[in-house]
Amino acid sequence: MTAQVMRRLLVGGASGASYRRFMGWGDITAGLRSAVVSSNILSKSDVPICLSSRSCCVSGQGAKKSWEDQGVRRVTEAPAVTVTHASVNHKTAMLEVKWTDGETDVFPYVWLRDNCQCPSCFHAASNSRIHLMGEFDLNTQPHTAQVLEEGEQVEVVWSDGHSGTYSAAWLHPRAFNATRRLAQAPKFRLGRRYWGAELLKNLPRASFQELLTDDKALLTWLQQLEVLGFVLVSGAPAEPGHVRSLAERVGFIKKTHYGEDFTVKIKPDPSNVAYLDSPLQLHADLPYYEYKPGVQFIHCIVQYEGKGGESQITDAVHVAQELKRLHPEKFRILTQTPVDWFDVGTDEYGAFYKVLQIPMICTDVSGEIYRINMSQPQRDSFFSIPANEVAGWYDAMITYHHLLSSPNYCLQFKMVPGMILTFDNMRIVHGRTSYMSGSGERHVEGCYIDWDEVKSRRRVLEVQNSP
Ligand code: OGA
Ligand code: ZN
Ligand code: ZN
Repeated sequence: MTAQVMRRLLVGGASGASYRRFMGWGDITAGLRSAVVSSNILSKSDVPICLSSRSCCVSGQGAKKSWEDQGVRRVTEAPAVTVTHASVNHKTAMLEVKWTDGETDVFPYVWLRDNCQCPSCFHAASNSRIHLMGEFDLNTQPHTAQVLEEGEQVEVVWSDGHSGTYSAAWLHPRAFNATRRLAQAPKFRLGRRYWGAELLKNLPRASFQELLTDDKALLTWLQQLEVLGFVLVSGAPAEPGHVRSLAERVGFIKKTHYGEDFTVKIKPDPSNVAYLDSPLQLHADLPYYEYKPGVQFIHCIVQYEGKGGESQITDAVHVAQELKRLHPEKFRILTQTPVDWFDVGTDEYGAFYKVLQIPMICTDVSGEIYRINMSQPQRDSFFSIPANEVAGWYDAMITYHHLLSSPNYCLQFKMVPGMILTFDNMRIVHGRTSYMSGSGERHVEGCYIDWDEVKSRRRVLEVQNSP
């Protein structure tokens, strides 16, 4: 498939044929969610997980039922809707389109003219609108609208003589009704499924070998990462370098001042406390990056054989919602108080000096939590807020920390060599229990990749895998 064809498919395509092939995001992602729920999440791991600190839980069968019980709709064929009637309405300044399924949609004139698909308004090869904004007439009106090719096309002739045709297959998914708008949501982000400690019984898993060789497995993994926020990948060689091969199956690695990939083991004069054997408290990496890497990979190469060195993860967005429910004022404080984060030192590319002021819990305009910042070592001693707000912030932060660490929410398990923990660094906080470096080795390798690249790969795979 050429890049051009792929690009057109990704936006639904101006031609009916490509739209029908792709079906549209609403239908396809409903099916994908079902796949997430019912299959690979339970795929048998070739490397058994060792859960040393809590009761053992990896019984695929019992768990399978619970996922399948979620009852998510499977992929259904997108209806091949065509147009039965199209008429102009100058009072509302909208084109009214009746479809063969009996529904009617309205398309504002201004939007139709802006999205004219003719070659002077739209450059098909680059999939780009090209008409000049300076020449755009906001009061543009169609002169006539007529249905052509048995309802497959609508031709609009504008009052200035310009004309363009819109295929039914292009228009239908772009309708402004609530259903069609909602159907686009998974293209942007798959819905999250929040979890607590119960997930330990049913860890989302994937096989390293399958991910490298099978695009369907790759897609399911990326969907799980978006929906659940983490997946435990098993079966990688327990040697350096393989965390890169997995990341590069997805896209390009996000470099940081720690390198393209980084090694976590005991280091003299370490540039990061992760390179000590002390506990690594629940944290998200790189809170001082404005463009914080979205997805993180931690590959266990050598595991400490004594007690300790266990991994911990918590769904920190879920816990923030719990904080909001239980202690609304503390939640407000953590979402509204900017915190100074910092990291200063020398590593792979020389000296670095990173600082950022951003709250611990970040919400967007709709109040949705999109990013958690948490890192005890990398919270600056500078705190640029009024003195009388400081104690209240600490109280809120410690309450949040206690909830994050509670056995109700925090999963703890010990990775075995060859496992790669993959997780959302915006949503999940992770940690590691202490170990005794004097009595054994531990060696982990990590790297990051941006969510933009991960989601892009997911969308490309969704298009390629659509029937
Ligand atoms: C890190 C980290 C986890 C581990 O280096 O940021 O979280 O298991 N390491 O060592
Ligand atoms: Zn045009
Ligand atoms: Zn970390």
